[in-house]
Amino acid sequence: MNSFALKATALVSLLFGLVPASTAAPRSKNGILCGRPKPTNGTTSLPPTPTTTEPCVVARDAFTSQTSASPGVVPTIAASQAYECLKSVPVHKEPAIRLLDELKPFLEWQSDQAFLKDPPSDYPYPPVDIFKELETIRSNLRENKYNGELEWQEDLFKNIVGKPHNGHLAYHPDLLTVPFEWVRPWALVSVSEDGTLLPVIKVLEDAISTSERSSHVVEINGINAATFIEGRVTGSSNTQDPDAGYNTMFFSRANKVGLEARGYFESGGRERFFYPGNTTSLTFANGTRVERPNIAKFHYGPYDWTNVVDADTMHKEFCRGAYNTGSPRVAASGGKLIRRTTTPNSIYSYPKAPILLARRQDESNNIDGYPEPVLITDDHAVSGYFIDEPGFEDVAVLVILSFSSYFVSFQNTIQDFFAEAVNAGKTKLIVDLQANGGGTILQGYDTFRQIFPDIVQDGPSRWRSSSSFNALSQTFSPLCANYTPKVDYQELDHACTGVNNWRNDLNATNGRFTSYTDKFGPVTASGDSYTNYMQWDPANLVLTRQAFDTDITGYGHRKNFTRPFGGPENIVMLYDGS
Ligand SMILES: *[C@@H]1O[C@H](CO)[C@@H](O)[C@H](O)[C@H]1NC(C)=O
Ligand SMILES: *[C@@H]1O[C@H](CO)[C@@H](O)[C@H](O)[C@H]1NC(C)=O
Ligand SMILES: *[C@@H]1O[C@H](CO)[C@@H](O)[C@H](O)[C@H]1NC(C)=O
Ligand SMILES: *[C@@H]1O[C@H](CO)[C@@H](O)[C@H](O)[C@H]1NC(C)=O
Ligand SMILES: *[C@@H]1O[C@H](CO)[C@@H](O)[C@H](O)[C@H]1NC(C)=O
Repeated sequence: MNSFALKATALVSLLFGLVPASTAAPRSKNGILCGRPKPTNGTTSLPPTPTTTEPCVVARDAFTSQTSASPGVVPTIAASQAYECLKSVPVHKEPAIRLLDELKPFLEWQSDQAFLKDPPSDYPYPPVDIFKELETIRSNLRENKYNGELEWQEDLFKNIVGKPHNGHLAYHPDLLTVPFEWVRPWALVSVSEDGTLLPVIKVLEDAISTSERSSHVVEINGINAATFIEGRVTGSSNTQDPDAGYNTMFFSRANKVGLEARGYFESGGRERFFYPGNTTSLTFANGTRVERPNIAKFHYGPYDWTNVVDADTMHKEFCRGAYNTGSPRVAASGGKLIRRTTTPNSIYSYPKAPILLARRQDESNNIDGYPEPVLITDDHAVSGYFIDEPGFEDVAVLVILSFSSYFVSFQNTIQDFFAEAVNAGKTKLIVDLQANGGGTILQGYDTFRQIFPDIVQDGPSRWRSSSSFNALSQTFSPLCANYTPKVDYQELDHACTGVNNWRNDLNATNGRFTSYTDKFGPVTASGDSYTNYMQWDPANLVLTRQAFDTDITGYGHRKNFTRPFGGPENIVMLYDGS
């Protein structure tokens, strides 16, 4: 975090609700995306069962013996044993209630909460009132209704993270998410056996194998397999659409690279923090039933399992926030900024991930499972292909696995690929967006404007008018009266190139707001208060040249583009809902 551009984008991402982490580091070659799970390779072998009776000591011993015997290999334990350990930790009521109270000001920013509470009739999931859920957990804690620390944390995760189905609404309770994540012993794939029949659910290895004996899955844990998967989507999916959630549960080549998982049924996503039970059983169409233990994968992090001697020290080691009563804010000290909190910034640093998106030097730059690209960025975010088969001579395929790539190479690679495609006589384009989890919105706009340079993109959104949002707007807006965005860094960039300056952003018809109230309203809808509709201003030099070293196509020096593939009738978007 040392360039001005980085600092500006970090703040911009905060204020604009971009995907964190990814956008905060435009130069990062492998920015970890918000909500992204860490990879697993589906290791399912279990270590021998230790003999101690204190469940967290059993876990500790498994961790220490495996890490010393095979350093670099992710340690695992039977899911049931890890669960026994977590369940043994008693409730720490006072810090739990304090935490719930401290969550409220953050949750007040959640813009769709009125709609989640009272959704339109075609909304596919059950309604949820997040503040009511929070209040219920709080009163359960006060009335000592929970049997252990894990129980209320699971309740919090289930209701505040699971039920809203929003990739940008997350909270990771420490005991539940810091020491372990759950893994089921099979990766599944939804596949049509001859390419035309309706898909069936198969174990991934069976789908790949040529064995005549392989059969498809009809039941999981005694429940119709598709119904079981749908139930898990309703419980844990972070996508607004259940079909999109269904896709994430399965292996696909795009999911393996983009979600860094062989499907969330096996591991990853939010599903990895919903206890899957001690075992999973599959019943196949041929009548065979197989049951295997589920697994807990240990996370790495700044934690020391050797400090764990019982349930209480388990809590001390992994629930450090409970012992930190000071301000969690960044505090000034001797001119240097220090973080007072002892908890890690992000759980996404665990377990230690192999750098999947980055090219290893001795390897070709192909994406695993994808054909030889015509062009590709170093970080694999963008790649372009021609289809070497009769009947497809006129087709170009643009694969975008992420919108959080270094902007200049992202933009250039798409531009160069389109130019090569047109030169090679390609007249049709497939834009493959499978497993793309997002990133910098302006990279999406840039892609769109390279395809349709003459169409101004449409992207209105509004913010919930919470008291802290309004306080920021009332503070920042007056500061910015004489501010003009420039390529060169200025002191006020952070404050003024953000949502809380009324002069920043464009209105619903791409004009300028004329006053504080013109932008911030508030406007009432569905019984809640919001700002007016606003849109990104892709001509803002702080957001573009300062942060990304380039202009957005259609703006600045990139106004001279023409459509490479003509109209939408020549273009198909391949999309799995992710
Ligand atoms: C998967 O992980 C296991 C243990 O972590 C390791 O031994 C194995 O080599 C890995 N397999 C692949 C294909 O990466
Ligand atoms: C799961 O495993 C734990 C620990 O081995 C055991 O105590 C518990 O009874 C098991 N639960 C079920 C439902 O089998
Ligand atoms: C039934 O199908 C499963 C899954 O493909 C396979 O492992 C098993 O061997 C099959 N059983 C028989 C009796 O063919
Ligand atoms: C957007 O701003 C322009 C210029 O101020 C104005 O003419 C237009 O009516 C505004 N549009 C909306 C929807 O408020
Ligand atoms: C647009 O103009 C710039 C600068 O003159 C030039 O480098 C670029 O190749 C042009 N792009 C197209 C698509 O014509």
